[in-house]
Amino acid sequence: MNSVLVASNRGPVSFTVSEDGELTMKRGGGGLVSGLSGVAKEHGVVWVCAALSDGDRIAVRRAPGGRLDHAGYATGALRMLDIPPATFHRAYNAVANSTLWFVNHLLYDTPNAPSFGTRFAREWESYRDYNGAFALALAEEAGPHARVMVQDYHLTLTPAMLRAERPDLRVAHFSHTPWAPPEYFSLLPDEVAREVLEGILGADHAGFLTDRWARAFMDCCESVLGARVDRRLRTVVHEGRATRIGVHSLGVDGHALWERACEPDVESHMAALRQQVGDRRLIVRIDRTELSKNIVRGLMAYGEFLAAHPEWHGRVVHLAFAYPSRHDLPEYREYTASVQRWAKEIEDEYATEDWDPLILNVNDDYPRSLAAYRMADVLLVNPIRDGMNLVAKEGPILSPRCALVLSREAGAAAELGPHALLVNPYDVTGTAAALHRALVMPEDERRRRGERLREAATALPPDRWLAAQLDALG
Ligand code: G6P
Repeated sequence: MNSVLVASNRGPVSFTVSEDGELTMKRGGGGLVSGLSGVAKEHGVVWVCAALSDGDRIAVRRAPGGRLDHAGYATGALRMLDIPPATFHRAYNAVANSTLWFVNHLLYDTPNAPSFGTRFAREWESYRDYNGAFALALAEEAGPHARVMVQDYHLTLTPAMLRAERPDLRVAHFSHTPWAPPEYFSLLPDEVAREVLEGILGADHAGFLTDRWARAFMDCCESVLGARVDRRLRTVVHEGRATRIGVHSLGVDGHALWERACEPDVESHMAALRQQVGDRRLIVRIDRTELSKNIVRGLMAYGEFLAAHPEWHGRVVHLAFAYPSRHDLPEYREYTASVQRWAKEIEDEYATEDWDPLILNVNDDYPRSLAAYRMADVLLVNPIRDGMNLVAKEGPILSPRCALVLSREAGAAAELGPHALLVNPYDVTGTAAALHRALVMPEDERRRRGERLREAATALPPDRWLAAQLDALG
């Protein structure tokens, strides 16, 4: 039977189906998946995830018991759960991505505050069902005393549900997002706030990306549940059970990333980009089009920079890669439209016949992103709030002389902060000034800072990150 299991909403691979019914497998997206794929294969992990696309659903129906043993390069074996679409929609879009994501990223503002009524009660019920489906599958797949690693805000209830089914298992939960302070977390209805915390406390070990998010979680346990918290030993005791709180700051496998970024498809994207931008300096950003990534204020800052520094006109290009994300949610569709509006404003104001100040790329293209990283003089990472932000860690590995302009609200700032140019993500003028400072940074300072950034970014690569959590489970 299986001894190490991982559970996450998005799996390491996904399937697309052609008109003649043929399935093609590709790598899944997002920080969690890029962190865990590969390592999961080495450990022979059984990965339980949701079927997200039509192709996934067909793949599951064709596979006995939904187990896809040929999941290739990404994991040992894969079990995809075919959750009924309406349940999935309510759990993933309404609860996980609209409610929990918004709470933990402080995205609600007053006119946009949520209302928790009967509709939410139904959505919450679906979130419970969806978490229950994961708990059931894990209980079926896990061997005696297996170690199970449950990932992220989609699956906060699964640890407690799994413990009820299989008390012999050692369970960890890991949050890849920030955690909200209690006064913001308490925006949730009381019983929901309790259930989320108690769900995670069903684990033996609850992991976070930074000390700041771990402390916020412990603060919530204390104020919402009245749990006994020992901040020095990092334990939470609730209803007679202790959960250890861990901080594991996920980093990047620099060697593997560099190898991938030297492949011919990346080189040919580099040649094409070079053709497009000539020898101009490049300010690069790479994000999902995500409200917390603060792309609009990044564009405003670039606009302010151009207004304040006419000497850079014609000499710099901003490559803004903003890939589609969560388009089932109206907030994300509106946000995408406002990113495009701001980009057009910059174009209208500054573009000339032989200079395009901004290239906005809205199609997901991994090799093209790697090419942009390699060519970056400046990397802009300015989220309002972010669990870690792996872009800030990948960039310095691929461009040794790239200066990093980094939001102080990104988890990555805890390690990279001293070697980056830190900004307040709401301060557009401050961000514009940092972009300028990054562009004029002397070459030896760039290289010195770059080296430190690279060291910090690779300090805890995914294999060691996973191993540290498995060790913590005993
Ligand atoms: C963040 C979350 C991941 C999620 C990713 C992409 O990194 O922590 O769990 O997979 O965003 O979001 P999506 O909704 O496309 O899975």
